[in-house]
Parts: sequence; C-alpha cells; structure tokens
Amino acid sequence: MASKLTPFLRTAARSASRASARPLITQQSSRAFTISARKQSDVLMVHRNTSDNNPNIPFKFTEENEKIITEVLKRYPPQYKKAAVMPLLDLGQRQHGFTSISVMNEVARILEMPPQRVYEVASFYTMYNRTPVGKFHVQACTTTPCQLGGCGSDVIVQAIKEHLGIKQGETTKDGLFTFIEVECLGACVNAPMVQINDEYYEDLTPETIKSLLTALKESVTDASKAPKPGPVSGRETCENSAGLTNLTSEPWGTETTREDL
Ligand code: FES
Repeated sequence: MASKLTPFLRTAARSASRASARPLITQQSSRAFTISARKQSDVLMVHRNTSDNNPNIPFKFTEENEKIITEVLKRYPPQYKKAAVMPLLDLGQRQHGFTSISVMNEVARILEMPPQRVYEVASFYTMYNRTPVGKFHVQACTTTPCQLGGCGSDVIVQAIKEHLGIKQGETTKDGLFTFIEVECLGACVNAPMVQINDEYYEDLTPETIKSLLTALKESVTDASKAPKPGPVSGRETCENSAGLTNLTSEPWGTETTREDL
C-alpha cells in the first residue's frame, strides 16, 4: 500500500513546496488571489479609488448641461427617467473628460437610480472612458474588414505606436494622445480607419495616419492645422474609387428612372 501511495505523496509535497515559493497575494495588495498578469478586461470592470478618480471629488453638471438634461428628460415618461442614463453619462464624460465615479454618482442622483445600476451601464459600454484619456483619443479599428482592407489595420496600429511611442491603452507624456484598439466602428467600406474623438479618418496608410497625428498635435496651437475628417484617399464618402462600374446604362424592362436624379 505504502509503495502505491508514495508517488502521489511525492507529487503533493512538490506542489505544496512550489505553492509556498509563490509570492503571497493578499487582498490589500491585489484584487484577487491570482498571480497572473492583469488583463484589459479586468481594467474595464474594476474601480479602484485614485487621486483623480474617487467619490470625494465633487462633480456637478454645468448650467448649460443642466439645460440639456432637462431637454433629454422630456423624452421619457417621468417614471422611466432612468432610461436617460446613457445620454447623461455621455454628457458627464464630455464635461469632465472621462466617466469618473463622481460623474456616475451624480447621474444616479439625478435619475434616482441605485449607483450600482449606473456603474453597470458605464462598465458595459467601452465608449465610457472610466480612466482619464488624452486630448485626442485614438481608437484604431482592428476587426477583420479593417485588418484585410487597404493596407490592413496591423500596419496602421504599428505606425501609431511608432509615431506616438506608446502601446495600446497608454497616453503620451504630454497628455495629448491616448491609443486603444477597438472593434468594428461601422465604416468597414473605408478600411482601414480610426476614430479620433468624435471624428472618423478613413482609407488610411501608415504615412497618412502619421501625418494626421502630426496635424492634430499642431492644431493644439494653430486650429487651422486641424485635419479634415473622412476618407484621406480623395474619396468623398464610400463611392467606388475606380469610378462607376455598374448600373451605368438605362434599366431594361419595366423599370423607369426618376427624372429628378
Ligand atoms: S471592421 Fe473596421 S470599421 Fe468595420
């Protein structure tokens, strides 16, 4: 019997000694009993008080935004005013620069919702930035059509990282640029593309994205340098860059073409 148990006892002893050699992680030093690297998804879901994001920092909407809130609330029956949680969070983010815990608490107060319900919304939608971002929030789409379209998003991401000297999720030292990768932004036909703040820049190449970032930096001191949003390839919108290739003749059969087109 002893000889049959020996290998198991040895394995158990080895595991125990390996475990004791691991650093002891306590609740004071980490949010979980794990020694694995923190993942981006952890960052999205967890709030930890910091000097620039804690509930003791007061937040109030400006008078101008209070008026907008009044207008927004008119869209919903009073008993369903919590339905306005998303536009109010957006307004708070635009005013404060990011969706801090104080912004979320103020939205909860106005809408008479449990704060937890507001946290759930803000942590579900990645468009709510729950940590500070730079003046220009560069979001590069890396979903399949952007990965395959044009020169492909891989080289765009590489060009952004090289030009700004930061990695995904980081902000430049001057506080101007934050860079992240995102999923499809709905402009696949003009791939590859990035969203910077509220604007889309499309049909990109490594050279054009670098020029865009340079122009944005210059626009801080000279607004006339701000780049024009949209396709940078010369296309107006998403028309075929090779010109009209189909539907070029009169329709045959009973169809007729509207005269005003
Ligand atoms: S895949 Fe990039 S915009 Fe749709």
